[in-house]
Amino acid sequence: MTRLSTVEETRAYGRRLAQVLRPGDLVLLTGPLGAGKTALTQGIGAGLKVTGDVTSPTFVIARVHRPDTAHGGGIPLVHVDAYRLGAVSDPRAEVDDLDLDASLDDSVTVVEWGEGMVEQLADAHLQVRIDRRPDDSRVVELVPCGGDWAGRIGALTPAARR
Ligand SMILES: Nc1ncnc2c1ncn2[C@@H]1O[C@H](COP(=O)(O)OP(=O)(O)O)[C@@H](O)[C@H]1O
Ligand SMILES: [Mg+2]
Repeated sequence: MTRLSTVEETRAYGRRLAQVLRPGDLVLLTGPLGAGKTALTQGIGAGLKVTGDVTSPTFVIARVHRPDTAHGGGIPLVHVDAYRLGAVSDPRAEVDDLDLDASLDDSVTVVEWGEGMVEQLADAHLQVRIDRRPDDSRVVELVPCGGDWAGRIGALTPAARR
């Protein structure tokens, strides 16, 4: 578990997390409204060097951010707000159905989910649990689910604690 005292720390954590992300990855952010899921996604977007501001997709379900290839970006970011998607068993299939102008196999897909929505999920993914503490700091925990996630975040955790 890592404590994130400020929104800047949350964004920096997202930038570090981006370093282990690869095309085809599914990252699920869980936590209550205002936990910092969008802030963390902003850090991931910065780490992946994508274009366009990462914001709460209020009127859209998902948004594609193209890599800024001139500045070293290489992987598109698909940012999904599943508060609008509702409870689904396979977010990748749901997002595929949206007919975005992006292939999920070539992108990193980050889904903001409410609490208690990942239980049914079979697809390999990384769950990032963000919790808000009474002192307004956040605590983040990475939960690897399938695939090679456990090994990949093992490399990340020591740096994330710095
Ligand atoms: N340590 C922190 N990490 C993330 N956000 C924080 C933190 N401390 C305060 N905040 C504030 O909490 C809000 C988080 O909003 P947001 O990222 O949109 O949450 P969510 O997407 O989970 O609903 C922002 O207004 C942000 O400035
Ligand atoms: Mg949000």
